[in-house]
Amino acid sequence: MPTFEWTQDLAVRIELIDEQHKMLFQRANDVSQAIDNGQALTQIIKTLDFLIDYTHFHFSTEENHMQANNYPGLEAHQTSHRELVNTLNDLERDFKEEGATFQLADALNSFLNNWLVKHIKGIDVQFGNFLKEKDIQLN
Ligand SMILES: [Fe+2]
Repeated sequence: MPTFEWTQDLAVRIELIDEQHKMLFQRANDVSQAIDNGQALTQIIKTLDFLIDYTHFHFSTEENHMQANNYPGLEAHQTSHRELVNTLNDLERDFKEEGATFQLADALNSFLNNWLVKHIKGIDVQFGNFLKEKDIQLN
């Protein structure tokens, strides 16, 4: 069973963003599965790198569309993205230094869960609402 599951209540109702969020969930699951299956650290780091790469791609997609549409929440959203990226990088560094300890796996899981649910429900949904109100389509 996947650890992280995208459910309809996480929809921002903008297809491009919802599809990218689903991919983020998939990559997060890849990481947690690599850890659960006791894979080698290099393999775990590889899945983390995939997640981090995709996170960068996804955050720039969101920020580019925010900028292009003069979204008033851009700056606050960028700050939130920066914090998420920093935490993710810190966690990856810790994995490299300490290995996949139970404590780290736990910290990573709660961070991902927190991010994927709270950030999406809390502020990505607001951007979705903004686009819907203005009847803007993204593609
Ligand atoms: Fe976001």
